[in-house]
Amino acid sequence: MTLQQNNTEFEEFANDVARCLSSKNKYISPKYLYDKVGSQLFEQICLQPEYYLTRTEASLLNKHAPFISKLAGSNIKIIELGSGSSSKTAILLSYLSSQKKRIYYFPIDISSSILIESKRKLKSQFPNASIIGIRSDYETGIDRAAAECMAIGNNKNIPYTKLVLFLGSSIGNFELIEAQSLLRSVREKLHTNDFLLIGFDLQKDKSVLNAAYNDKAAMTAKFNLNLLARINRELGGNFELGKFNHCAFYSHERHRIEMHLVSKTDQQLYIGALGKTFAIRKGESIHTENSYKYSLSQIAALAEDCGFTVEKNFTDEKRWFDLALFSPS
Ligand code: AVI
Repeated sequence: MTLQQNNTEFEEFANDVARCLSSKNKYISPKYLYDKVGSQLFEQICLQPEYYLTRTEASLLNKHAPFISKLAGSNIKIIELGSGSSSKTAILLSYLSSQKKRIYYFPIDISSSILIESKRKLKSQFPNASIIGIRSDYETGIDRAAAECMAIGNNKNIPYTKLVLFLGSSIGNFELIEAQSLLRSVREKLHTNDFLLIGFDLQKDKSVLNAAYNDKAAMTAKFNLNLLARINRELGGNFELGKFNHCAFYSHERHRIEMHLVSKTDQQLYIGALGKTFAIRKGESIHTENSYKYSLSQIAALAEDCGFTVEKNFTDEKRWFDLALFSPS
């Protein structure tokens, strides 16, 4: 990361924290949950028994890898939005390489350390795959990945299929309007025979959802509270983590899990980098994340709005999760 990037990110974080703490409804983008510690805690969440999303999606990928593989000819270029550890993608890569496909993989992630580490692991597992990591947010990342796709491995003019992956129900952390904007940008980069594979968490009994975001080992609580620790570390805040409760609940009307940090007392919060103190009342919350849960009809409507057709819905037996395969319409 360059010094300039560092400074811009620092300023953006400081400004967003200031805006959040001075608003009546205190909301901050969930992207700030993912510093190094937050990303490690998220990996731990994925292993919790209550957090069914990761293992359900992994088993769907395992089961349907042959179908997905058949869509592509001998040459496949995979772009992944928010690749993280790429551990689920490895399932697909493993099947594709067993079929002797020529694989180009463009993982896009905001964290350079996670990209370096996952590339190292994948290279030893799949020595024949070309892995081109892109450190970026989603919007810029998709533009850069599409440009790289055109530039790399095309010298013999062999046709290839582009497959964009957006796994893990990350789309659920977007407001509908943002999700539409992102999917439209993806659509612009795809041709007739390309595909988009997206993981959606489905609407279900709220006891299952509430348990997934309130795991017994309190990993989700730690993940949520780490945001305050991050503000302390990076912006010189004086948050006392013990003075906040993790609170996550399913809102049936909005079809979403809301995650909050609720103040246990009236307190004054000082942020060194801003040289300012903010007041928060007992019971007042800082809203840190929404996680939308979809129905199959909402998925179809989203696809249509963004210029796609739903080719397949790969769902599990309980219908808890959907791996939706979209093609350009
Ligand atoms: C990354 N994202 C899809 C997770 C989710 O389920 O919304 C983030 C998360 N937040 C709390 N637990 C997991």
